[in-house]
Amino acid sequence: MEGKKVLESFKTLYGAEGDIRLFHSPGRINLIGEHIDYNGGYVFPCALEFGTFGVVRAREDKVVNLASTDFDLRVTTTLDDLQYRKEDDWANYPKGVIKIMHDQGYSVGGMDILVSGNIPNGAGLSSSASLELLTAVMVEKLFNNGSLPRVDLVKLCQKAENEYVGVNCGIMDQFAIGMGKKDRAILLDCDTLNYDYVSADLKGYTLVIMNTNKRRALNESKYNERRTECDEALEALKKYKDITSLCQLTPEEFEEAKDKLTKDNISKRAEHAVYENHRVKKAIEALNSGDIHSFGELLTASHNSLRDLYEVTGEALDSIVSEALKAPGCIGARMTGAGFGGCAIALVDKKEIDSFMDSVKKGYLNRTGLKADFYFSGIGEGTEEISLK
Ligand code: GLA
Repeated sequence: MEGKKVLESFKTLYGAEGDIRLFHSPGRINLIGEHIDYNGGYVFPCALEFGTFGVVRAREDKVVNLASTDFDLRVTTTLDDLQYRKEDDWANYPKGVIKIMHDQGYSVGGMDILVSGNIPNGAGLSSSASLELLTAVMVEKLFNNGSLPRVDLVKLCQKAENEYVGVNCGIMDQFAIGMGKKDRAILLDCDTLNYDYVSADLKGYTLVIMNTNKRRALNESKYNERRTECDEALEALKKYKDITSLCQLTPEEFEEAKDKLTKDNISKRAEHAVYENHRVKKAIEALNSGDIHSFGELLTASHNSLRDLYEVTGEALDSIVSEALKAPGCIGARMTGAGFGGCAIALVDKKEIDSFMDSVKKGYLNRTGLKADFYFSGIGEGTEEISLK
């Protein structure tokens, strides 16, 4: 739904009086650097042009009304009752952020909120982080003079996801969404949170987002399991190397130390982390020198490692990526986000887009019985208020 329509729906739902404000928070893709944000590695995500709209009005009392154009479920609660409740479903994301801001001493107040998402749910494009940042920025603008450091909002949204929702995610999604800049990808060092905006000149190629339409159901426990496996690898390697995260190791250092990891799965997870981090650095070099073919090869190598070493792809993602790599104009493809379903990205010659989509659609349907969807998006701006003047 467009912002203006969400605004109209808000007025119908809650009434047109008072100071009503409109916000937008993007989705994200990650170009390369997967499953290494929580291993102190480099990631290279960007915000999308589509995301979640939110309309909000402050209230005089402590009531928080939460409604969405995408779900029937509406939740009414108060600032004194922001506990997680399973039955509150999607509304737990805004509730969690408001609660954490309240607990951390930020100023919060009652609100009427209507949200409307253009990010397909369960597609791995971070609809939840988008909603979290949307809420945090609304609270910032309504009750905190719009003057809070954005990185602080990013961190508290990650905390909401970790501690309130219970998914032990890294910082990449919230950072990409909160700090996104139009036409710039973000090279983020997750060890230090230093970052650079990089203009991703794709030289006549474009990124196509391919939705497997296989929902990422039940992936939370697998995600947390991967994190535990990485922690186990780190603990074992720390006895021999002076490190605080896996990605501090170069591939050479890892090769020297890897026989200390006696369990096959633990060794594979660590190998992925170390080499994926190395690939991100190579990918930036390739982009900076205009070598788009090498960039594409690195994307594909990243997918292969996520499939063989990290084991987070699955049949749908592997099928769509291999169909993409066979299709006209494609020079690289990989899953993006957490994996286990959701979306992949492909780097495709702009002149071949139609035949590319045609070929992937047929091949993927043939292999999996599922229909693929395709999205195109430039790089969008991070979470922001939209002026209504
Ligand atoms: C999810 C998490 C991120 C990151 C990716 C994998 O999107 O929220 O923190 O770990 O998976 O790269």
